[in-house]
This record gives sequence, C-alpha cells and structure tokens, in this order.
Amino acid sequence: MRRLLIAANWKMNGTKASAHDLLSAMVNAEKTFERNDVTIMPPFVFLAEAHKLLTNSTIHLGAQTVAAEKNGAFTGEISAEMLREFACDYVIIGHSERRAYYGETDAIVANKVLAAVAYDLRPIICVGESLTERHDNLTKKIIEKQLNAILTLDSAHDLLQNACFAYEPIWAIGTGVSATPEQAQEVHSFIRTIIAEFDAELAKKIRIIYGGSVKASNAQALLNMPDIDGALVGGASLIAEEFLEICQCNKLY
Ligand code: PGA
Repeated sequence: MRRLLIAANWKMNGTKASAHDLLSAMVNAEKTFERNDVTIMPPFVFLAEAHKLLTNSTIHLGAQTVAAEKNGAFTGEISAEMLREFACDYVIIGHSERRAYYGETDAIVANKVLAAVAYDLRPIICVGESLTERHDNLTKKIIEKQLNAILTLDSAHDLLQNACFAYEPIWAIGTGVSATPEQAQEVHSFIRTIIAEFDAELAKKIRIIYGGSVKASNAQALLNMPDIDGALVGGASLIAEEFLEICQCNKLY
C-alpha cells in the first residue's frame, strides 16, 4: 500500500507573516493527518523559518526547484546541498511553469533530478500536457517523452527509488478546472504502465500524485482512484482550512 503524499506548492506567494501563520496552523493540526506524508514547498526565502517551525514536526519541507549544477558561478541559483542544509526532503522538478517560463527542457529536468538525488532529496518530477496537446490526442505521447527523459538515464533505477511523479495537466493548473478523477486515473495508469515496462517492482511502489486545481471539494474523489497516490496542491495550499482538509483525506474504497 502506497502512503499518500500531499504536497503544498506555494509558488511565489506569501509574506513572512502569512508563511508563519500557515505553517503554525499545519503543525497544530498534524495529528489529524499523520497517516499521510505531507510536505510544504515554500519560496526559498522562507525555508529557514519553516525549518525552525517544523523541527519537531512530522511535516516535511521541500523546495520548488533546484539548480542542476553542484555549486559555483550560477547567479541566483540554489543548490541541492543548500536545500539539504535547511532540512528539505522533497523538491519539485520540471513544473510546467518552470518549463514554460524558464526554458527547462527535458534534458535540464533530467540533470536536476541527478543533482537532487546526489544530495538525497526526493524529486517530485512533473509531467503533463497542454490543452492543445490533449485536443490533438497527444497526451500519452507527450507524457511518454517526458518520462523517457528520466527512464533512459543510466542510473534511472537508483534515481527513482525515492522519487515520485506528479501528473499535472497544464490546462488544470490554476484554472479551477481539475481533471476528472477518471481522466486523471487514465493518465496515472498509463504512467505506471510505462514505468512497469522499465521496472515492474518500482512501478508498484512509486507514487504518482495528481496536481491541477485540487481543492478540499474534489481531493477525496481524485485520491480514491487506484493509481492516484497523492496531490500536488497550489492555490488551495495557501488556505489553511482548505489544505488541512486535503491532508486529512484517505483512500476510501
Ligand atoms: P493549482 O496548482 O493547485 O493552483 O492548480 C498546482 C500546481 O501547479 O502544482
């Protein structure tokens, strides 16, 4: 049985005060979602304070991206080693916003996964199609290409032991229009099949989480699907009550 992973992607939102309030609310309620893994990915500048607040908590910390390089003259970048120092366990890699606005190609995404795993960070590797691609029946082709950028790496087997994939259809991100549970399940099952062709054991244990307009009102139905092992939550993760409700979901069959 795969433990659910509920991940908060705050994106570029919040202030010191709101970050503090949100994290405190999560810590105060953590007993109510202890059967799930929960991780918060705030902007880099809030990591130090978040690290302090989460010290005695079971809630994990993570980052929204990481540099592909180890260290050196890369102005503005943050390394995996630095994230580790602030107790990050998880890192989102290849979010569609990074791919679209910051030119992250499949090759860069693969290098970032290598950099993250070298410092024991658990990558949450994002894949997903645009609306045009879906309309053109290209969803599976796009997802397979994004997956293969990782699965064809020499060290893919080791790299993926602590990784997870996030299926995030671009048309569902921040739009309020989530994929239906059935639409998401179809792609999650496809992702698991592709991974199974590579390594059947890995396919059974790897978590594939869904992201794109997840909220308290639709999380449970999505999480009930057999191949949906968690949620990557943007907007709704900024509202304590909403996010808490998502964290408290269970697999209900
Ligand atoms: P959303 O974002 O929940 O606001 O749609 C999800 C994401 O981009 O990870």
